[in-house]
Amino acid sequence: MRAAIQSLQGSKIREVANAGLGRADVLPFWFGESDEVTPEAIRQAAADSLLRGETFYSHNLGLPELRAGIAQYASALHGNVDVDRIAVTSSGVTALMLAMQLLAGPGDEVVAVVPVWPNLTAQPVILGAHVTRVSLHPRQGLWQLDMDELLASVTKHTRVLLVNAPNNPTGWTLTRAEQQTLLAHCRRTGTWIVADEVYERVYYGGSPAAPSFLDLAAPDDRLVVAQSFSKSFLMTGWRLGWMVLPASSPQQNHLDAAGKLLEFNSSCAPVFVQRGGLAALALADTLVPRITGHLQACRDRLVAGLQALPGVTVTAPPGGMYAFFRIEGEDDSLALAKRLVAEHGLGLAPGAAFGDEGEGWLRWCFASKDLNRLDLGLQRLRGAIRL
Ligand SMILES: Cc1ncc(COP(=O)(O)O)c(C=O)c1O
Repeated sequence: MRAAIQSLQGSKIREVANAGLGRADVLPFWFGESDEVTPEAIRQAAADSLLRGETFYSHNLGLPELRAGIAQYASALHGNVDVDRIAVTSSGVTALMLAMQLLAGPGDEVVAVVPVWPNLTAQPVILGAHVTRVSLHPRQGLWQLDMDELLASVTKHTRVLLVNAPNNPTGWTLTRAEQQTLLAHCRRTGTWIVADEVYERVYYGGSPAAPSFLDLAAPDDRLVVAQSFSKSFLMTGWRLGWMVLPASSPQQNHLDAAGKLLEFNSSCAPVFVQRGGLAALALADTLVPRITGHLQACRDRLVAGLQALPGVTVTAPPGGMYAFFRIEGEDDSLALAKRLVAEHGLGLAPGAAFGDEGEGWLRWCFASKDLNRLDLGLQRLRGAIRL
């Protein structure tokens, strides 16, 4: 086995979840998904597709009508995004992996803003690239970027800047001005930006979407955006996402390249799943604001409850669906998360799962259909706090 693979760390979230496996009394808030089932119209569209017999391969890049639907959806949010820049993928995480396969190889340097969902930093390592971590800094529970530090780390030797905003786990969200600065800097250094914007609609800043690099970048900028149906359409189990690639030129056909990578990875997303995606887009105008509005109510309920507990540091995140918090005197997040499961029936993700920078913190996914579940979890946490 390759050494890079042998030394990959297993997921610490799974480590905690496995400890609670089969226990019906555990309240699970460890994974990044809602407990609400996908809306019926979306499920129906997939079921209809299967019943029609759509059980065959599709084009590598996805059904033309889904690609057109995604281009229209992205254009409504960010100004014109041409369909020739869209590739459908089997999940957001696959979109990210394909972006890395496209851009980073052995020995290349990837700069990543952390703490972050560990899949993002594992992917370049799998490909043999080197990851330089630039940490956000917590101030009163709110994680912030030191722009000078990040700019100093991205040099002409940096192949890719990997940035996830709104961020999992911290909720940190880039401002438009920060994106402008990063884009200008990366144009100077010749660095690609891989922007994980899967939480762009899970944003509480008063606009339909968080600031996106697509709002600023020219079609030929070195930018790849990874997107997903998982979070904003309640479709985690469907495994459907997309990439926005740069416009192709006679020298570089990014879409063709993505098509080849898709062929050699999954070949295509299942057609009935893509039909579900099309139905989801048709509902987007009502469904997405409803989901975000509910998540905001969840966030406010949970954060207020956490703030009322002794020794807890937490701030309402501007985006994402996680409260990232710490408890005074608790520095070993994995041990704490395991204790919370074993002794209190509360399933949270340890901050260490997102890198050393997250050690001492806990992540609570507040995407809960029933807000009372959050209250119940808070009660359990109150019982666990030893101050
Ligand atoms: C930051 C981030 N990016 C990407 C994804 C991928 O989502 P999916 O693979 O379900 O589309 C997730 C899922 O948790 C995430 O948190």
